[in-house]
Amino acid sequence: MDRIRIIGGRPLNGTIQISGAKNAALPLMIASLLTDQMLVLENVPRLADVAQLQRILNNHGVDVMVGGKRPGESTYDGQTLLLSAARIVDTTAPYELVSRMRASFWVLAPLLARMGEAKVSLPGGCAIGTRPVDLLLMAMERLGAEIEIDGGYVVARAPNGLRGGEIVFPKVTVGGTHVALMAAALAQGATVIENAAREPEIVDLADCLNKMGAKIEGAGSARITVEGVSRLNGARHRVVADRIETGTYAMAVAMTGGDVTLQGAQAGLLQSALDVIGQTGADVTATNEGIRVARNGGGIRPVEVTTDPFPGFPTDLQAQLMALVSRASGISKITESIFENRFMHVQELARLGARISLDGDTATIEGVSRLKGAPVMATDLRASVSLVIAALAAEGETMVNRVYHLDRGFERLEDKLTACGASVERLSG
Ligand code: UD1
Repeated sequence: MDRIRIIGGRPLNGTIQISGAKNAALPLMIASLLTDQMLVLENVPRLADVAQLQRILNNHGVDVMVGGKRPGESTYDGQTLLLSAARIVDTTAPYELVSRMRASFWVLAPLLARMGEAKVSLPGGCAIGTRPVDLLLMAMERLGAEIEIDGGYVVARAPNGLRGGEIVFPKVTVGGTHVALMAAALAQGATVIENAAREPEIVDLADCLNKMGAKIEGAGSARITVEGVSRLNGARHRVVADRIETGTYAMAVAMTGGDVTLQGAQAGLLQSALDVIGQTGADVTATNEGIRVARNGGGIRPVEVTTDPFPGFPTDLQAQLMALVSRASGISKITESIFENRFMHVQELARLGARISLDGDTATIEGVSRLKGAPVMATDLRASVSLVIAALAAEGETMVNRVYHLDRGFERLEDKLTACGASVERLSG
């Protein structure tokens, strides 16, 4: 298993290219199941989760080709995927494939909408509390699906096709909104989705579906309406910039000090997080190229933050913020309102010298003046990158074990950081 060795204490200076968003690329790839024509996705990040979803889609009969490089493109630009689901050969998504990535469960919606049936294993994914799928199943039922659970599988049927309906989510769910959009796009009649997730990745999916011929209005607001169509066509779409990767590197610079331009980043995708990073004492400026983050000299100020659905502070940046304020001059409080149990990074940050106490869904972080390198273990995707950030600011050597979690969500992390002056080295095996 690969490990990453980091020698901390160096500021970050330079430019980091921001990749396409993993959390947009995954539902967009899944949307290819909705049409027998080709869907071309540009700016897809090279990540383990993307490769895993390619295998899952292959199993349903989707041909996935990787476009060649065009003149002027480097190997570091995002890849172009050409997905063609001309014929769906299998409507079952087996446990061995789905258990490794939660988002793959979402194939349920397009399979059901296009084929009238789907059998999908209940999901696995990051170990961050119980992550049920009851609301996703409720949404499918509201569109006329019959659902059974059998042997660890969700078996969904709509022999006469899905019908539009009213879906009212009692709680904001990104996955629930994605599957509702995909299913409603091909249902007969109109669908209204109330209390929809407003995340930029929802807007990106809706934009792509509309290019494919869907009739979706209101994506990005809490009320989305969909007028079903009988078939969708192919389209070409560029994946939106990754706001979580953007926020992660912004926090790394806010922690180590230095001056970095996050090229291709879009401030509007993560304004609440940028505001918090500004409150900690870093200068954050939106530029023509992206976002510039700098901190020179001054210390890190403590903050009080609660995670919330978009446009609030994202739960996917909670661990990274905790790393950042572990060296603040004062006491910070971070409340996690989206997931129970998303504090596995606390123990590992403590190994580097952070002082954090937990009370229910709130962490109290007493800033310390120095962190010291240590061996640590990555436990989930976002937690593992918080350890990397802390290690960049810690004295001496940190060995981050089990980095496969990082490879699921961060493209070329060590290259991007090394190019800005960090000492980060991957040790294979
Ligand atoms: C997505 C993101 C993930 C992010 C999360 C919240 C992807 C691939 N993943 O995950 O990175 O952390 O949004 O921004 O885009 N819930 C239920 N029942 C359900 C579904 C969800 O109770 O059927 C609950 C969850 O347990 C959680 C909350 O709703 O407490 C939000 O989860 P949701 O937005 O659905 O997260 P994901 O779509 O899985």
